[in-house]
Amino acid sequence: MSNDETTNIDDLLLENRKFPPPPDFQERSLVAGTQLYDEAARDDEGFWARQASELLHWDTDWTTICEWDLPYAKWFVGGRLNVAYNCLDRHVEDGRGDKVAIHWEGEPGDTRTITYGDLLVEVKKFANVLKSLGVQTGDRVNIYLPMVPEAAVAMLACARIGAAHSVVFGGFSSQALADRINDAEAKVLITADGGYRRGEVFPLKGAADEALANTPSIEHVVVVKRGGNDVEMKVGRDHWYHDLMADVSDDCPAEPMDSEQLLFLLYTSGTTGKPKGIMHTTGGYLTHVAYTHKYVFDLHPDTDVYWCTADVGWITGHSYIVYGPMANGATQVMYEGVPNFPGNDRFWSIVEKYKVTIFYTAPTAIRTFMKWGIEEPAKHDLSSLRLLGSVGEPINPEAWMWYRDNIGAGTCPVVDTWWQTETGGIMISPLPGATTLKPGSATFALPGVSAEVVDDGGQRIDHGGGYLTLTRPWPGMLRGIWGDGERYRETYWSRFSDRYFAGDGAKLDADGYLWLLGRVDDVMNVSGHRISTTEVESALVSHPSVAEAAVVGANDPTTGQAIIAYVTLRGGSQVDEGDLRNHVAKEIGAIAKPKTIYFTPDLPKTRSGKIMRRLLRDVAEGRNLGDTTTLADASVVDELQRRAADSPSED
Ligand code: PRX
Repeated sequence: MSNDETTNIDDLLLENRKFPPPPDFQERSLVAGTQLYDEAARDDEGFWARQASELLHWDTDWTTICEWDLPYAKWFVGGRLNVAYNCLDRHVEDGRGDKVAIHWEGEPGDTRTITYGDLLVEVKKFANVLKSLGVQTGDRVNIYLPMVPEAAVAMLACARIGAAHSVVFGGFSSQALADRINDAEAKVLITADGGYRRGEVFPLKGAADEALANTPSIEHVVVVKRGGNDVEMKVGRDHWYHDLMADVSDDCPAEPMDSEQLLFLLYTSGTTGKPKGIMHTTGGYLTHVAYTHKYVFDLHPDTDVYWCTADVGWITGHSYIVYGPMANGATQVMYEGVPNFPGNDRFWSIVEKYKVTIFYTAPTAIRTFMKWGIEEPAKHDLSSLRLLGSVGEPINPEAWMWYRDNIGAGTCPVVDTWWQTETGGIMISPLPGATTLKPGSATFALPGVSAEVVDDGGQRIDHGGGYLTLTRPWPGMLRGIWGDGERYRETYWSRFSDRYFAGDGAKLDADGYLWLLGRVDDVMNVSGHRISTTEVESALVSHPSVAEAAVVGANDPTTGQAIIAYVTLRGGSQVDEGDLRNHVAKEIGAIAKPKTIYFTPDLPKTRSGKIMRRLLRDVAEGRNLGDTTTLADASVVDELQRRAADSPSED
């Protein structure tokens, strides 16, 4: 393990606080003891099968629970179900059509209240729109939208007709969108004129148009009107959502789909420059997200108001805004904008307004709230909250305690949930009515999930630091990488034999609690978003003035990691740091902008020519450098250290 991970382990050893479930929480909770763990330990497949049949409606029963031919799993083989039916129709048929599905709040303060009945009609109509545009079962549809209810409608409409969606986060650039559309060969793009962010309209259609110049597979574009900004509509290709919806039938039966029908692709960064299209299918995925959403959040659908602050463009939005909560018939809040518009208390005013009971956010947001001060949450009545969740990156014990004390009134359990785009749903997390919490620990693998920490040689360890692996298939697991079976095997199943390698370091303490320690590969985690160092390097060297670039993620008190770039310019070239940062934003998206760029005549390399990233990370984090004797030219590092000490980093 590298130096920084060892430091983490030392820090964590000091963390001895324990918080058992509060008695009144435990009394009302769905699970207060070990029964689910015991059941799953006896027969994990049987356990998952019980979840699948209790939580979902199947049109045809499966014949085999799990077919496991490493690294390929199939779940509930032979079973048929419709995801949209499970998320909408059955709630309406059961008399819950008037129940609020989404309390939507736009950033400017406009609101929409959408019941399950409303959502069902909208989804049926939009499914018919998609069919009228030629979309068929098995096709791919791209979605590039702000946080508006139409994003959920579009996803569920695809699911209803068995088309796979590929959602691209609205903050990604036109280039990133084009790459993803082309890789998936999507037929239709659903976008918006623009959305609201920090009080202004950000244009989406313009970026989509740039992408569309190079996406031959797209036949039609559907545009949701949200920002009211001017857009160009190409006749024959582009259609307004409201026009198409005006006179389409709302009769669209939910056809049962095969359990292994592709539900969606979601692109995520790996260690190379090319994002991976992670494949998720129907029956197993829905079982996994419904089960975890119910038990990790101790969901009482009749009384809870749930709010997950993620964007639908990420896996958290897919699994814990759209599919999990809706399969469970939850009432939720969906918010369009940033947490500091018009003031730093916006989230807390939303919690108060809708009487949110379960709140799920990311450590980077929590650390930002800490910076803004306790007076912001103190302005509001947060007494409706009963459970808090965290996701996306390791949560440091201080942030965990601050969250519990200042948002959770010192009593709400905090569930730190570890999972990945690839796992589909939560894997390691407390069950809040059953688990004694330790601040900063994701505690234990959930019932049905088998996680082990192994050493470098792949030997299981029961105590201490190592690599997080998963030893058994689980229903929500990725089914592959779109178009690249070899990369799938190589990335996840080759580092340790017979094990899924998550790419994360982890530690087991003396009580068997798991502590996640961050990525051990060249993937950075910036504000909970995965960005590959190689991707940013490729963006940098695509600038005509740049000869070579090395990118590292350095610890950052707010964003978890910050992107630090070391750049060598071509002979005679000059370029401004700001221009180069903007170039990266244009290539990938603003989330990938380096915080600091150091210009250097050379990069530190080993004698075999490999860039020494660990050393660059040490430089960026101001650490004393250890042994540099393997370097081809040690003076490069002296020079870099001098510069790092001289130049304050930019915010
Ligand atoms: O490094 C882990 C970190 O986020 C990675 C997965 O990123 P992504 O696929 O974008 O999904 C994020 C939302 C699930 C993991 O490999 N990560 C996620 N949750 C946690 C975490 N690290 C520590 N603790 C967590 N709770």
